[in-house]
Amino acid sequence: MTHSEPTDKRRLYGRRLGRPLNTERQEAMDHLYPRLEVPQSALTQKADISPASLFDTDKTAYWMEIGFGNGEHVAAMMQQNPDYGYLAAEPYINGMAAFMREIRAWDNQNVRVLMDDAIMLVKSLTDDALDGLYVLNPDPWPKSKHHKRRIINPDNLNDFARVLKSGAKLIMATDVDDLAEWMATQAANHPDFEWTATQADDWRVTPSDWIKTRYEQKGEKAGRKQSYLIFERT
Ligand SMILES: C[S@@+](CC[C@H](N)C(=O)[O-])C[C@H]1O[C@@H](n2cnc3c(N)ncnc32)[C@H](O)[C@@H]1O
Repeated sequence: MTHSEPTDKRRLYGRRLGRPLNTERQEAMDHLYPRLEVPQSALTQKADISPASLFDTDKTAYWMEIGFGNGEHVAAMMQQNPDYGYLAAEPYINGMAAFMREIRAWDNQNVRVLMDDAIMLVKSLTDDALDGLYVLNPDPWPKSKHHKRRIINPDNLNDFARVLKSGAKLIMATDVDDLAEWMATQAANHPDFEWTATQADDWRVTPSDWIKTRYEQKGEKAGRKQSYLIFERT
């Protein structure tokens, strides 16, 4: 299988290859991925692509997950909500291949995937397109000179606010305290988002229906505390 090389300047991440894929993952990439991939023609970055136009049938709600890793969370969500349509972005081919391998035999493949910078897809979506957005354990970029690369930043929050419906959820999580504080501050300072926390320690309490990824479980074992930052689009 060949993948086209990134051409767009935004495509900083595109299709990074780590370990070689095993046979099952390669097969899933060859056969399933092309069926579920968001087409290039939809990456207009012109706010003119409705999520419904990416699926064969209408869905009752549309959610997006940015940086899904191996896709464990989005896969669980797809099973929990078979009537929803999911948009899921992850630039790492190993993560994408693991996810494709996981769902390859499922009847309900209610997801469309992007193996690239999620922001390209966000910028392509119409206003009020999404019922919710997950950003789980984003890269922390610990050095302060790299903080501007953090996915939760004022520019991206403007884009998220545009594509989220009024009342839609922006759900963020991290086990890096400095990043938790950063994300909470950025979102709380944005005029279009309101923190749903009602008590001081709400953000330390695991929501009842939470799906823990392997990444989160590893962090817990290492003694790190997860923060759950749930904001609502006003
Ligand atoms: C620390 S991992 C967490 C993975 C997963 N969300 C979890 O909780 O297990 C962060 C992921 O975000 C992805 N990522 C970083 N920047 C991204 C972007 N602009 N668009 C989509 N994914 C991105 C990375 O490739 C990486 O897999």
